[in-house]
Amino acid sequence: MKISVIGAGNVGATLAMRIAENDLADVVLLDIAEGICSGKAMDLTDAAPVINHDRKIIPTTNYKDIEGSKIVVITAGFPRMPGMNREELLLKNSSIVKEAAGNIKKFCPEAIIIVVTNPLDAMTYLAFKESGFPKNRVLGMAGVLDTSRFTALVAGELNVRHRDIETYMIGSHGDTMVPLISHTKVKGEPISNVLSSEKIEEVVKRTRARGAEIVGALKAGSAYYAPSASTFSMVEAILKDTKRTLCVSCFLDGEYGLKDICIGVPAKLGKNGIEKVIDLKLTEKEAQEFKNSAEVIRKTTTKLKELCSK
Ligand code: NAD
Ligand code: LAC
Repeated sequence: MKISVIGAGNVGATLAMRIAENDLADVVLLDIAEGICSGKAMDLTDAAPVINHDRKIIPTTNYKDIEGSKIVVITAGFPRMPGMNREELLLKNSSIVKEAAGNIKKFCPEAIIIVVTNPLDAMTYLAFKESGFPKNRVLGMAGVLDTSRFTALVAGELNVRHRDIETYMIGSHGDTMVPLISHTKVKGEPISNVLSSEKIEEVVKRTRARGAEIVGALKAGSAYYAPSASTFSMVEAILKDTKRTLCVSCFLDGEYGLKDICIGVPAKLGKNGIEKVIDLKLTEKEAQEFKNSAEVIRKTTTKLKELCSK
């Protein structure tokens, strides 16, 4: 079983580590910078005896080496700097994702693509269009991360275990992401029974700003432990065909009343990638927020289409 990771940077290399050290698959680690992928591949290989796994990490700058991958994860691209929003990465990252998707189409026409590169929803849309793959085989990682961030913050407020919280964060991977409070439970109880609406709003606000908070603290680069763990959970659900419901960015063709957009929604993941989009009932407030979020994504995707037409 082989998985390819495009981009051996903070997210890509940490993801490669998680895949190998959880004995999930061998990993082809591709980067434009030969030294980055070879140096990290050697270091990860040297850890194998200690961790006691026998998975291979194969560095390369040549897309031919991704042939036969079941899943290809695109993390190549620039992360944001303090003060930047994710949409400002559009120009630089769209050419990188376009190139990656084109090569995946050429060398891995049966693969499932998971996009990580920001701005996430627009880059997922670009990979979907550029690859020409069916919509079940192109998905974006953000909802798992944003849901996890919300869960961690709620667990901290209530001093409960993460597994006692069920919630969904849908919409854009950005300031307009939508927490489904009406579907959020703590130990089986609606969250509104255990947390005030003011506190809930405060936690939502903190979740939306979490990426920027980390970028501000790091000064150079953005989060990668939780993003790589979130991407790993998607890879694992697909490879093990678990049919687990996770929030992922995917192409909608009428679901939630939306067409021709990639946006975060709950979906069952399995061996075919997206097995089924889960159509949850939204409150009026959640539906309005989701609509606003879709509009923000459409603005970025429109800019993307203008860029690609040049
Ligand atoms: P990084 O700078 O650590 O790594 C990026 C890597 O991409 C570098 O090693 C670079 O050499 C490589 N690269 C650049 N151009 C390339 C090309 N044309 N072909 C192959 N490789 C190329 O950045 P990072 O922290 O790993 O983040 C990567 C991307 O993921 C950024 O766009 C970031 O915003 C995004 N991100 C998204 C999420 C999410 O929730 N979707 C979370 C974290 C990071
Ligand atoms: C960021 C990632 C988390 O830009 O999307 O912070």
